[in-house]
Amino acid sequence: MKEKLAQLKEKALSQIMTSEGLDRLNDIRVAFLGKKGELTDMLKSLKDVAPEERPAVGQMVNEARAAIEAKLEERRQAFERKLREEKMVAETIDVTLPAKKPMLGHRHPNTIALEEVERIFVGMGYEVVEGPEVEYDYYNFEALNIPKNHPARDEQDTFYVTDNIVLRTQTSSVQAHVMEQGKLPIRIIAPGRVFRSDEVDATHSPSFHQIEGLVIDKHITFADLKGTLAEFAKELFGEETKVKFRPHHFPFTEPSAEVDVSCFKCGGKGCRFCKGSGWIEILGCGMVHPDVLKMSGIDPEQYTGFAFGVGLERIALLKYEIDDMRLLYENDVRFLKQF
Ligand code: DAH
Repeated sequence: MKEKLAQLKEKALSQIMTSEGLDRLNDIRVAFLGKKGELTDMLKSLKDVAPEERPAVGQMVNEARAAIEAKLEERRQAFERKLREEKMVAETIDVTLPAKKPMLGHRHPNTIALEEVERIFVGMGYEVVEGPEVEYDYYNFEALNIPKNHPARDEQDTFYVTDNIVLRTQTSSVQAHVMEQGKLPIRIIAPGRVFRSDEVDATHSPSFHQIEGLVIDKHITFADLKGTLAEFAKELFGEETKVKFRPHHFPFTEPSAEVDVSCFKCGGKGCRFCKGSGWIEILGCGMVHPDVLKMSGIDPEQYTGFAFGVGLERIALLKYEIDDMRLLYENDVRFLKQF
């Protein structure tokens, strides 16, 4: 019995030492120490041993059991250590590798131009306001002195939603909204999207952006308009920039003008950029028509004002020397990345 016990112990220990993997260790545990295991069987046959030898043999069984359990545990820990080490090696991160640069988004040229224009006018004390893109005929036309038979209303230019609701064709539509509120004086710019049923080409799009300006106070004159826009042009295109006011007609201003700036590429000598003329047209403006003031409840005998309207895309194209407006709408990252 003692000999068998010693052999059994040796067998178990050698199997444990040569075992590979935690599953195999468990099989060994069951085979020797389990309910029907070899050592357990031996314990059962203790009853066949002579009574005086039982304590000694019993102790040997216990010792064998303890030795096998200790070996199992030792081997188990060795396996786990090895697994952990393998995992660490597999998951090693090389912190010396160069990092991937994250792609940074940035502002669209239209947004950059708009923020620049807003910065200039806010600096002069203007407030930035917004109006609706879907607009009543009244605000887009009627209140701006554009009567029912005016060519600007021609269905060719205007997207009609219903008979008296349109997609606004100009940010001038914000003027009457602001004047109606009756808070004077007024000094605002109103940037926003406008719509016209134009074919897409290098200089046209059915949807583009304008920035409207409106100032109303006592004693506002054409000189204020000229000074304001001259300052705006200098800030936007450089200190050397000159402005030229050409007489024009808009229904909502009287007198009206179009404003050219001296070409910031050639300084006015004439180049490809300004098509040889030395001047570049940038906006429309004028003194607010007395009828427009009256319609919005402002007394033209007491108050006067000026207004102007700038195309945002036009500013962006000029400032960044882009020659095709379509580039601003395609949102090709290779193009946008350059600004
Ligand atoms: N609304 C005009 C347009 O879309 C631009 C404009 C011209 C606005 C003169 C004005 C202005 O406020 O006084 O062509």
